[in-house]
Amino acid sequence: MDIIHNEAVTASGLRVSMPVPGIVRVTDGNHKGSYMVSAKLRKSAPKREGERLTWGNISVEPENGMALYYEGKLLCADYPGVRQPKIPISQEELEQLMAEGHVPAGHLDAASVWKVEVCKQLPEDAVIYGLGDKTGFLNKRHYAYINWNTDDAKPHCDNFQSLYKSINFFMVYSKNGCMGILADNSYRSRFDFGKENEDYYFWSHADGALDYYMIPGKTPKDVLKRYLVLTGKSMLQQKWVYGFHQSRWSYYSPRELLEMVDTMRKNRLPMDAVHMDIDYMEGFRVFTFNEKRFSDPKGLTEALAQRNVKPITIIDPGVKLDPGYFMYDEGVAQGHFAKNPDGSIYEGAVWPGPSVFPDFSQEKTRLWWGEKLKILTDAGIRGIWNDMNEPADFTGQLPDDVQFAAGTHKELHNVYGHLMAKATYEGLMNADSRRPFVLTRACCAGSQKYCSGWTGDNHSMWQHLQLSLTQMMNLGLSGMYMVGSDVGGFGSDCTPELLARWFQLGAISPFFRDHYAKGTRNQEAYAFDEKTMDACRKALELRYHLLPYIYDLAHEEMPILRPLVLEYPDDPMCRELTDQCMLGDQLLAAPVMTPGVTARAVYLPKGVWYDYYTGKRYSGGKYILADAPADRMPLFAKAGAIIPTAKGMPQYVEEITEIVLEVFPGNGRHVHYMDDGETMDYQKGVVRTVNITVRGKNVAQKVTADGYPGPDSLEVKWMV
Ligand code: NOJ
Repeated sequence: MDIIHNEAVTASGLRVSMPVPGIVRVTDGNHKGSYMVSAKLRKSAPKREGERLTWGNISVEPENGMALYYEGKLLCADYPGVRQPKIPISQEELEQLMAEGHVPAGHLDAASVWKVEVCKQLPEDAVIYGLGDKTGFLNKRHYAYINWNTDDAKPHCDNFQSLYKSINFFMVYSKNGCMGILADNSYRSRFDFGKENEDYYFWSHADGALDYYMIPGKTPKDVLKRYLVLTGKSMLQQKWVYGFHQSRWSYYSPRELLEMVDTMRKNRLPMDAVHMDIDYMEGFRVFTFNEKRFSDPKGLTEALAQRNVKPITIIDPGVKLDPGYFMYDEGVAQGHFAKNPDGSIYEGAVWPGPSVFPDFSQEKTRLWWGEKLKILTDAGIRGIWNDMNEPADFTGQLPDDVQFAAGTHKELHNVYGHLMAKATYEGLMNADSRRPFVLTRACCAGSQKYCSGWTGDNHSMWQHLQLSLTQMMNLGLSGMYMVGSDVGGFGSDCTPELLARWFQLGAISPFFRDHYAKGTRNQEAYAFDEKTMDACRKALELRYHLLPYIYDLAHEEMPILRPLVLEYPDDPMCRELTDQCMLGDQLLAAPVMTPGVTARAVYLPKGVWYDYYTGKRYSGGKYILADAPADRMPLFAKAGAIIPTAKGMPQYVEEITEIVLEVFPGNGRHVHYMDDGETMDYQKGVVRTVNITVRGKNVAQKVTADGYPGPDSLEVKWMV
């Protein structure tokens, strides 16, 4: 092993370095450049003792199976043997299964060729989290997945291997600590977490370089913090974005849209945004408005502004193949579209029929696309919803050899949504001084810098309500904090009870949007009976009440909605809990996700807890049975919790003017954060922070940043 420029080179040619404090990179040196990593890489010099390299509390033995020790304990090492599938299957057995349409999961990808692979020992007690948008539950141990951004309209269930987002980051948490791995390769990838064999986990890529980062820490929280240094922080949104959004595929006219908004307002159902789905366009041509139905977009956005509602439009990447249409003509003339190997433009099909696909890997195309957003922002549109950007193609998947400037489709498929989000983010950034709101369906590791996400086309099924909580927690653990699911479910018909329960989960979802497909039963908060509307209203009111706290969390560098393991990593009970979550570090929520129940079991970690609604005191470290009447989900505050809340009952975010600190006795602290809620000035220190501490029954407040005007101390309300 040689060390050249602070990088160790092993006998097999692998290069080992620490390019970011606390993170070890292993690469074969063949990587052209990363889409996922955004940190400035500066290799720091290791201390060398024999074959062991040491940087502070991290040591690596590159020639000894790349063993990594964190604070003296072995956290990760290559699997010394050869992979041995434990469930071998003969060709004959496989054919029998397939005759009836069964395909054993491991064989779904039998046709793929894997050129790059890393296999590590799997600690006996390890749980595994990550990979972003996956089905199943929190702990991914025993399962295998494919990272290949996929639009699959079938109801998503546990054995799905891919969905829209592919985040090549996961954590292996065992008694020795937590090991985060970012596999920096954009090709189709598979991850097997002890499914094939309990003794190891491995990941493989269809092509490209071997390049991975080992991110050690004591707990998942430590690892997540470092991962965000490597790939970028989740972006803070304009404050209204944390309010409620209503959407439908589609509100077909300004009249329908405004009627919906007026009905919400009339029924005192708070809201901040509406989404306009594909039918607002002229023949599904992106950057146009339908001449008959939406002939006066400015008039519509002004009417919405008068009602304090922000409009968001959908934009798909597919550009209609239509000579005479400006996007098509300019794109052809300026070389913005992906090509076939023979140099002709690749033609697929999406909503507008025959379509072509922008090559977002080119800076000029990102700029062009970004400039076009002005058509929408000038009309008063306040956010962009990027859909179908896996990219989805109704003629079947884009062939592997479709050419983009930076590589083939095979190489760039998984980062296409990411690059579209980057183009959109930068375009919005140039359009005005506000924080860009970009919502995406497809993305990869690191996309959190540019966009929020939603979990795509779920269904109005109780199973999908359950799934969406796990998906949001798992996306949070994968660095994407600003996420939500289609509340009420996208496909299939919603029922009153499901809608009310989904609104309750929505109230604590980082991104809170009700959205549903054409041809399915209406599911706005007022769509059913009074009782359901009342339950939805209570959920919306809870959201707006907690909004100042949620905004504080959004500014923190941790998921807004988090699994209990992030806060209680030493409590084994918390490692696999998938039906309850934390809203920040102070509130524990236990959404009801099965029909017909009015109570549920809730696990409270050690310590003292209070029922948020009644103040009833509980000692934790055990399960309790909590009341869950139809109009509310169990919610608990830990002792010493400090929750900044909105005074009064705001109907939209701008109506939140005064803050009340709800305080539960005990010892705790919280930082309340204020800024203009709109521009990037917060990055220049135009912020106000108040450090609040509670000791028993005493509260102290101290302003620690006063770059933004605001009160020095906030009204306190004792909750118990
Ligand atoms: C697919 C998206 O996932 C969905 O939300 C949207 O309504 C439809 N496309 C139509 O644009």
